[in-house]
Parts: sequence; C-alpha cells; structure tokens
Amino acid sequence: MEGLADALLRELLCGVGGYDWAVSEFARVTGTDLPDRFFCRISPELETSGCTACGTPVRVQLLGSDPARMGENAARLARLRPAGIDLNFGCPAPTVNRHRGGAVLLDEPELLHRIACAVRARVPRGLPLTAKMRLGVRDPSLAVACAQALADGGVEGLVIHARTKLEGYRPPAHWSWVGRVASELKIPVVANGEVWSEADWRRCVAESGVRDVMLGRGAVGDPFLARRIRNGEAFDARRDWPELAALLGEFWARVQLRVAPRHAPGRLKQWLNLLRKRYPDAAHLFEAVRALKEVARIDRVFADAGVVSPRVAARAA
Ligand SMILES: Cc1cc2nc3c(=O)[nH]c(=O)nc-3n(C[C@H](O)[C@H](O)[C@H](O)COP(=O)(O)O)c2cc1C
Repeated sequence: MEGLADALLRELLCGVGGYDWAVSEFARVTGTDLPDRFFCRISPELETSGCTACGTPVRVQLLGSDPARMGENAARLARLRPAGIDLNFGCPAPTVNRHRGGAVLLDEPELLHRIACAVRARVPRGLPLTAKMRLGVRDPSLAVACAQALADGGVEGLVIHARTKLEGYRPPAHWSWVGRVASELKIPVVANGEVWSEADWRRCVAESGVRDVMLGRGAVGDPFLARRIRNGEAFDARRDWPELAALLGEFWARVQLRVAPRHAPGRLKQWLNLLRKRYPDAAHLFEAVRALKEVARIDRVFADAGVVSPRVAARAA
C-alpha cells in the first residue's frame, strides 16, 4: 500500500505468517520506460527470486492507462522475474486519477480490455497476471463489464475492492457485490475491503461467497490477523503483545537504517496509530511518542517499555 506498507513492513508482516502472497505498491507507468532500479526499489524482493525473506511471493503492481506503455513496461518487469504482475484499477487518489490512472478507468471497460491484452501479450505465459479493481467510479453498474473485460484480456485472477472510487475508504464495503461479479466470471476472485477482524472476515466470506480475502489496512492494524484466520485462533491482545513488541522493535531499528532521522518517527507513529485500535499497549506507546520528533527520545521510550529489537538486543549483549 503506497505510503503505508512498503517492502520493510511487508517483510515483517509476511514473516508472521498466514499470507499466500503479497502485492507491492504501484509502479506508475507514464511515457517512459521504467528502469530496473525503479522496480527493485518498489519491490526489493525482485532481488530474492520475487519473494520476501520468509518466502512469500510478491506480485509487482503496475498502474497506467496507455496499453502500449503498460505492455512495454510489463515486459521489462517480467525480465526481472517477479512472482506475478498485478494491474491497478483501484486507486482513487485525485493526483493519480487526473493522469488517467487507477479507479477512474472503470468507466472504460474497453480500455481495460486493451490494457490487459497488451500486457498479456508481452509477458510469458507462466507469469501470473492479476488485476485489482473497485466496483466502479460512481456506482457498480459497470462492475461486471470491467471484470469481464479484464478476464477476456487474459487476467487470470481479480481482487475486487468492494467500494466505488467515490466511496474512497469509507465503510461499509459492499461484499455482496463481489459475489455478484464473481458469479459472472470464470477466473478466481478475491474479496477486499473493510476486513479488520476475524468477524469481518467471516462476514465477508459469507456475503461475497468467495473463498479468498485480501487484507488491506487490517493487515497493518493487526499483524496477526492473517495467521489467526488461517489457524482459527482467537484474538488476544495480551497474549500477542510480546510478539508485537518484538516486531515493533525490529521495525523501528530497520526504519532508522533506511529512513532519514527526521522522517523515521513519522513512519513509526503511522504504524502505532493503526495498531492502537486493537492493542492497548500500542495505544500507550503511541501516546508516549506522539509528540516526540527525535529518534533518541523515542529510543528511550521504547527501552523503558521493554520494546527492543531482538537484533539490537543481541548486539548489545
Ligand atoms: C494508504 C493506502 C495506500 C494504498 N496503496 C495501494 C496500492 O499501491 N495498490 C493497491 O492495489 N491498493 C492500494 N491501497 C488499497 C488497499 O490495498 C485496499 O484495497 C483498500 O485499502 C481496501 O481494503 P481495506 O479496507 O482492508 O483497507 C491503498 C490503501 C491505502 C489506505
């Protein structure tokens, strides 16, 4: 998720377990050929056989509207052997939509078809090609036509974010619509949107009738959600806090290695802000760091709370 879940968080969350695959943030395709280093920055997993350190396959996502440019850049990306290529028709951001990218294209099923065909023609058969779409721009009247256009164009699987572009990220998600679209298609459909808990997941599966669900913000807000769903475990914030504290310590240590000191606190607060909804200990930490801007002061708060990266602790020992 662009600006929220990058390769660093992806690696930590996938390491917890429960995921079949993950998707990178989108690479925006404009008039130029994207260089290898650009793809590798968005998905460093390309340097490790397209998988995270724990072996979760990562599909790299492309966003754009020009079929020829999309095809050419997909071919360039395919040479780097990602675990798959995903096409983004879900982004509602005005800056992206203004340049004819993301969910705004859901008014043009014929264009979606041409993009899918152009990409399919330029990537090897064995490389999975999937797409992500919303229900429509304003309403779901073209949802089936868009999904069908993508499938007919060679997309092998579809993730449907069960909201329109205009609905942004506001609840509710219309899971039953995912089922309506899926019933018209021959390719697998994954439901997405507003799954924050096991109860949401159960309702999403029941209302959509599809078996597979993609977690969005819920994956970041509850790092153990996918694993609990997979294992049929119950939520227990107290039980899972030590494991979450270790993840936070690891995250904070790695953020400091990759991000300038003035930006590092923001990354941490962004994650804590989502975690605090379900984890009271994370809420306390968030309150303790929310006004802090210096890395060293946050380090002290973490040390006082016993939140230390296992690797940092090993180095200190
Ligand atoms: C900050 C942010 C960035 C996102 N970036 C992407 C992206 O790059 N590619 C994508 O397919 N979806 C992206 N999404 C959409 C999510 O993958 C997901 O479809 C959406 O948030 C609905 O699921 P949720 O309600 O479980 O979060 C983003 C969402 C957010 C909030």
